[in-house]
Amino acid sequence: MFINIEPLYASMVEEIKTRISKLSHPPKLAVVTCQPDLSTLSYLKSQEKQAKRLGIEFSVYESSKVSELKLLLSRLSADISIDGILLTHPLPKDISELEVASMISPEKDVEGRNPLNLGNILYDHPTFPPCTAQAVMKVINYVTNPSGKKIAVIGRSVTVGKPLTMLLLQKGVDATVTVCHSKTQNIADIMKNSDIVAVAIGKAKAYNKDYFKPGTIVIDVGINVENDEMCGDVDPTVSEICDLTPVPGGVGKITTLVLMENTVRAAELNR
Ligand SMILES: NC(=O)c1ccc[n+]([C@@H]2O[C@H](COP(=O)([O-])OP(=O)(O)OC[C@H]3O[C@@H](n4cnc5c(N)ncnc54)[C@H](OP(=O)(O)O)[C@@H]3O)[C@@H](O)[C@H]2O)c1
Repeated sequence: MFINIEPLYASMVEEIKTRISKLSHPPKLAVVTCQPDLSTLSYLKSQEKQAKRLGIEFSVYESSKVSELKLLLSRLSADISIDGILLTHPLPKDISELEVASMISPEKDVEGRNPLNLGNILYDHPTFPPCTAQAVMKVINYVTNPSGKKIAVIGRSVTVGKPLTMLLLQKGVDATVTVCHSKTQNIADIMKNSDIVAVAIGKAKAYNKDYFKPGTIVIDVGINVENDEMCGDVDPTVSEICDLTPVPGGVGKITTLVLMENTVRAAELNR
């Protein structure tokens, strides 16, 4: 069946609103874009709607060159009226993410892209881990206790797979993790031998029922468009034998809230 994440979503909204009500003024999120494509623009629209609904100020800054982008990120990092900074993806090919993400103040890095924030995860001291990885953790913790579970993470990106793996390996979380990628052999065997599978590969409906043993918890992180419809990396028929997060309305919905939650946290630390 499909995992109903609505109760998790509702409780996160309530908590965020309560925390905002305790601040002297609304949290402020600065979004920086660099040659945004259509899907980035549509993602921004939904983020803006969510921010407004929660009472978070949202402003968009655009820059087209790497030198300008670095200056802009430094300026926003130094601006005490800004609590959180989000740099949208994908970046143009000639821009090194490592180089520009380093310009975001770690205290305002609400999407967890600064190398310092990524490194803190290795020390079991996550400050702002990447939002999507954090969202997957919230969904897993909502559904089950990951301690001692065999978890397969499919995909090894900086956005999802790698930070998620490190979060699952933390002391106190204590999952046993296998990470797979495009060169992994016998991926179906690894997936079938897991209690939980988190899939983030960006390939529409890549995995059907043949890849899972019945009863597996399947977290579908993928967001793809096929025949003008949004779908995940997992075929929805997998829900007939496993507990599967839906797409849309699953991890993506929680990721947006994690970004807002992190902005509130940055505001709490900044005041
Ligand atoms: N729900 C959300 O909030 C949210 C947020 C961010 C992203 N997403 C979605 O999540 C998906 C992944 O995003 P991403 O940024 O992590 O993508 P990415 O940077 O393109 O990374 C994809 C990863 O999947 C691996 N991969 C590709 N094909 C594979 C295959 N057939 N078998 C096994 N591994 C394979 C790649 O392996 P190699 O490293 O070997 O190339 C790579 O590590 C996309 O659909 C994206 O839209 C969703």
